[in-house]
Amino acid sequence: MFAEAYARLPKQPQPTTVEEYRGRQSRLTNRFRNEDVLIVSSPSFAVHSNDVEYRYRTSSDLLYLTGWTEPESVYVLRCVDGRWLSSLFVQPKDTLKEIWEGRRPGVEGALQDFPIDEAFNIDELANELGSWLNEAKRVFVRGGVNQEVDDLVQSAVRKRDRARQHFGTGPVSVEDPSGIIAELRLRKSPSEIEQMVYASKVASIAHELAMRHSREGVTEFQLQSIIEGFFSYAGASGWSYPSIVGCGENATILHYTANQDVCGDDEVILIDAGAEYRGYASDITRSWPISGQFSDAQREIYELVLRSQRAAIEVCKVGEPYTAPHEAARRVLAEGLIELGIIDQDLETALDPDHGDLKKWYMHNTSHWIGLDVHDVGVYKPGGEPRLLEAGMCLTVEPGLYFGAWRPDVDCPERYSNIGIRIEDDVLVTGDGPVILTEDCPKTVEAIESIVGVPL
Ligand code: GLY
Ligand code: MN
Ligand code: MN
Repeated sequence: MFAEAYARLPKQPQPTTVEEYRGRQSRLTNRFRNEDVLIVSSPSFAVHSNDVEYRYRTSSDLLYLTGWTEPESVYVLRCVDGRWLSSLFVQPKDTLKEIWEGRRPGVEGALQDFPIDEAFNIDELANELGSWLNEAKRVFVRGGVNQEVDDLVQSAVRKRDRARQHFGTGPVSVEDPSGIIAELRLRKSPSEIEQMVYASKVASIAHELAMRHSREGVTEFQLQSIIEGFFSYAGASGWSYPSIVGCGENATILHYTANQDVCGDDEVILIDAGAEYRGYASDITRSWPISGQFSDAQREIYELVLRSQRAAIEVCKVGEPYTAPHEAARRVLAEGLIELGIIDQDLETALDPDHGDLKKWYMHNTSHWIGLDVHDVGVYKPGGEPRLLEAGMCLTVEPGLYFGAWRPDVDCPERYSNIGIRIEDDVLVTGDGPVILTEDCPKTVEAIESIVGVPL
């Protein structure tokens, strides 16, 4: 079923090179002083139940700086005699463990294939890191990720020994490095964009396959399985967030993930699903009629949301505040709802955050950063002011309208009862204007009507 769709994908991109990781590390050290130490630990496994764990996913910061994906690892960046050294503590090679759980790169693999100057067995952490910390002034570490690291840092800060007494050595402050790393992650490099393009293309085709398999009686979980099955078939590591597959009134629940219902002929389905590829997320929403033909009411709402999305994408330009797409989408939606007689207020009142009726039907934001995390890092309002978009930033554009007839807090217009539409693309900001990474995913009424229910 997937082979034909797979053949439409481009070749997978080259992985990020060791030189590029080195460049990221070096840009980071520019923000540090020579007596600083940065520590980034891999997170622990998450238990699914009893002795079964979820698929392991390391921290995005660790991935960003090193490309290292193994568990039980600690990365340290420190300056020795004026030269910044990149060190990694790793699980050692262990034949018995490797027979059961899989091969380990170990110390040799870390040195050979990764941007690492010194690698150690994780058992040596206390010894090595303990002594490095005693030389440090500021320690940059995120607390609560690795208990052993937290204890070592605390003990170095508390220590009151002769060396400290005589030479004033030892850390005096502990700071969270997340914000500094986030500033780098916010602007994507060409290699990162290549990974995101592949993640986006995989998800675009997956949505198209789900459209093609939509017909009366199909279940939400069957469409979910087609989407997620294609993610794996195409070489993605899986989803970048749990897939939202909601038909009928479920389409009006923003983060519906039960995905258990049967789809009816007169219903709209909303699917919000994205693939993760080499750690990079895609995030796409499409909404379509199960019958393959929009009813008049469904089309009215769909075309309005589409107009608002296009207006929002249009302003994803260098120099615009990150809030511009939201404002553009809101304005088009409010105008349209007034025209359709759904909102009985003037435009400015409809848009008012306190008194406006727009928020009854459109209650979420239009954009978020996207990258190694689906809701990627990066402060939206540095210094309290909306950040201005720069080339290399990636954000989603995802307006929607949700007419949940089940909601006790609103009077849902009968004509639009249980229509939930969201249209979401991933956009790269460039000097030449917005580039839609998820462009391949069918979006116009005509494209959708020609595809739904028509298998490849
Ligand atoms: N899929 C989550 C979001 O759109 O933000
Ligand atoms: Mn999103
Ligand atoms: Mn989404």
